[in-house]
Amino acid sequence: MTFSTIFVAGAGFMGSGIAYLAATRAGSRVLLYDIYPASLDKAQAAMERMGKGSVEKGFIQPDQLALALKKIKLTDSEKVASEADLVIEAIAEDVQAKKELFALLDKICPSKTIFASNTSSLSITSLASATKRSKQFVGMHFFSPAHIMKLIEIIPGLDTSVETAEKIRQFGQILGKVIIGSKDFPGFVTTRLGMVLINEAAFALLEGLSSPEEIDLGMTLGYNHPLGPLALADFVGLDICLHVLETMAAGFGDPKYRPCPLIKQLVAAGHLGRKTGRGFYEYGEAK
Ligand SMILES: NC(=O)c1ccc[n+]([C@@H]2O[C@H](COP(=O)([O-])OP(=O)(O)OC[C@H]3O[C@@H](n4cnc5c(N)ncnc54)[C@H](O)[C@@H]3O)[C@@H](O)[C@H]2O)c1
Repeated sequence: MTFSTIFVAGAGFMGSGIAYLAATRAGSRVLLYDIYPASLDKAQAAMERMGKGSVEKGFIQPDQLALALKKIKLTDSEKVASEADLVIEAIAEDVQAKKELFALLDKICPSKTIFASNTSSLSITSLASATKRSKQFVGMHFFSPAHIMKLIEIIPGLDTSVETAEKIRQFGQILGKVIIGSKDFPGFVTTRLGMVLINEAAFALLEGLSSPEEIDLGMTLGYNHPLGPLALADFVGLDICLHVLETMAAGFGDPKYRPCPLIKQLVAAGHLGRKTGRGFYEYGEAK
């Protein structure tokens, strides 16, 4: 099962990777939408960089790449979503903003169009409630960078039909990904496990068990993780980690997900990780 025209909402880090992937791997026409023209410019440059890297590694031929990139149209108009048979939403992790966008797209898109959200933690059932198509609404969680990472987590909401989840599973395979499923509870499987490890590492640091370097070495050398939890938290962004932990703490009502006060303190100070030049580690300059 493939989709001929895909409307990708949000041309940021994830949206540009998803758009590139859909055009190069599935041959789909992609309408990449963002409200900010500057985001569209950045996405164009990012997709050209992805293409250059893929050509250098021999993953794609230059002529194939040129054809695929021509299939991606950048747009600041949500109205073109009327042409899509699949919507993949990758705007900011804000439940209200996502609901507003889905409610708008629900009016624009034909009834057959499937809606997917790339949210890392928000309730799919709740996002679907902003539309009249909860049977055709599903979580499709890519990992960053989306054109490289091998996994997609599929999250059916309470009312998602088996057919919708199956179509998205098949499409994920066409994109060259391995698929896992999760029920629709805060953080799903992957975000929940990843964030619990990051939070526990922050508690270990707060309690003075080890230095940041030792905590990360413990997991890279001891458990073969490619990146230690504190370095990973700096990469993801401590503000994002805090937001997800708060979503899980509220969603489960279980104190085991309470965000570590050290993460809260760093966020309050504006030390959000690599993007601000300081988080658990110092990076010298914002990256
Ligand atoms: N970054 C990651 O590692 C990662 C991994 C998996 C999933 N996600 C999820 O993907 C989504 C996007 O994350 P990102 O890292 O790409 O964020 P980002 O900030 O890089 O991109 C978000 C984009 O959405 C645009 N945007 C914001 N509000 C909009 C609106 N109402 N309509 C249209 N465009 C709008 C912004 O201009 C921006 O270009 C989030 O839900 C996030 O949780 C992120």
